[in-house]
Amino acid sequence: MRKVILAYSGGLDTSVAVAWLRETMDAEVVTLTVDVGGGSLREGVERRAISAGASRAYVLDARQRFVLDYCFPSLQANALYQGVYPLATALARPLIAQLLVEVAQREGADAVAHGCTGKGNDQVRFDVAVHALDPSLEVIAPMRVGMGLSREQEIEYAGARGIEIPITKASPYSVDNNLWGRSIETGVLEDPWTAPPADVYQWTVAPGQAPATPAEVVIGFDGGIPVSLDGVRLPPVELVDRLTALAGSHGVGRIDHVEDRLVGIKSREIYEAPAAVTLVAAHRALEGLTLTKEQLRFNRLVSDELAQATYDGLWFNALHRDLRDYVQSSQRVVTGEVRVRLDHGSLAIVGRRSELSLYDRSLATYDADDAYDHAAAVGFIKIFGLPLRTEAARQGSAWAWTKPLVDGIPAVVTSAGGSEPSGEPAAAGTSKG
Ligand code: ARG
Repeated sequence: MRKVILAYSGGLDTSVAVAWLRETMDAEVVTLTVDVGGGSLREGVERRAISAGASRAYVLDARQRFVLDYCFPSLQANALYQGVYPLATALARPLIAQLLVEVAQREGADAVAHGCTGKGNDQVRFDVAVHALDPSLEVIAPMRVGMGLSREQEIEYAGARGIEIPITKASPYSVDNNLWGRSIETGVLEDPWTAPPADVYQWTVAPGQAPATPAEVVIGFDGGIPVSLDGVRLPPVELVDRLTALAGSHGVGRIDHVEDRLVGIKSREIYEAPAAVTLVAAHRALEGLTLTKEQLRFNRLVSDELAQATYDGLWFNALHRDLRDYVQSSQRVVTGEVRVRLDHGSLAIVGRRSELSLYDRSLATYDADDAYDHAAAVGFIKIFGLPLRTEAARQGSAWAWTKPLVDGIPAVVTSAGGSEPSGEPAAAGTSKG
């Protein structure tokens, strides 16, 4: 008899999948439930797994590993898929895949299974990650290979076998939660013109209903990792959870995104990610203070590349690994504090400071104590502008392909004798060539 480790949420689909795998594949099923925070762990999962026919049920609290090894490295890179999605679901998949592989090896299983459909990104992420870690394991996705049952059929299927059914009423949406964010899709959201109904949101208040007084929070970073809120050092999971509650209560962290799935489909997704959105903005602000302009420019490329690779399920490929190492190294100076104001759904950076700041007030100031060498600017600009002057001398000045501006702009010209509207083109500068 073969043995399969099933990634088990405790919902109806995966509960039915336990029985389906036993009956259709003649397999012994061991379930693995991973708590990645954000309310993802359902009450009584292990009991339900056994009632569905699992021989053993693992429940692992992976919240701390998830934050430290997946969310924070992604934050250090400011990784946002298509510039907006903080990748919550995508980040949890390689973690769960690795745990599936570890439990499979420990249990001597020859396959792992997951409840993804054939249309989404998650199936790709699981399959690719599992095979990167252990190519000998088979990956079975019941929903992709014949277990396509409607909700009613699933309830009937479960009832006939005495499988305990989760009592929660059917959500009109497909939702995935972890402490880095909530992902919501399907139902009325499939029309990208339809505004998200209020019941989509659970972690954020409507910006109009946010408290009248804005909140300000000081986020402390050490090496690009958030370590404190308002000067109080907090363990990583607690820090993220607290920030989720605070920013969410001010309506910050809602994202409405038509995104490009890996499988070629455009899909409308709603996300709630109050902590991730706030942390990325704060982290960026601190980088603006502590990194050089070359690092800032290059890191934007790395950020996009990492976001894409994470989204595409390539966490365990060589480029992903090396880019993470690069980002990690670049973060050695990203230490300091950022003041963030949360106000009716909007977030503003209102202050930042760091012992390693590259901002030098004596250079930036326009006050009398200015330490900047103004005279030196002349020589600098002479050299900096040298290529343009050479270009003009050898190939003609930019004047040759510039359209006169002043002719088309209403102007009043005042000379000693009084004002007159200037219908005439300015005398100098209109002759070309
Ligand atoms: N589109 C997101 C992603 O691919 C979220 C998918 C989450 N799944 C869900 N059932 N809502 O990362």
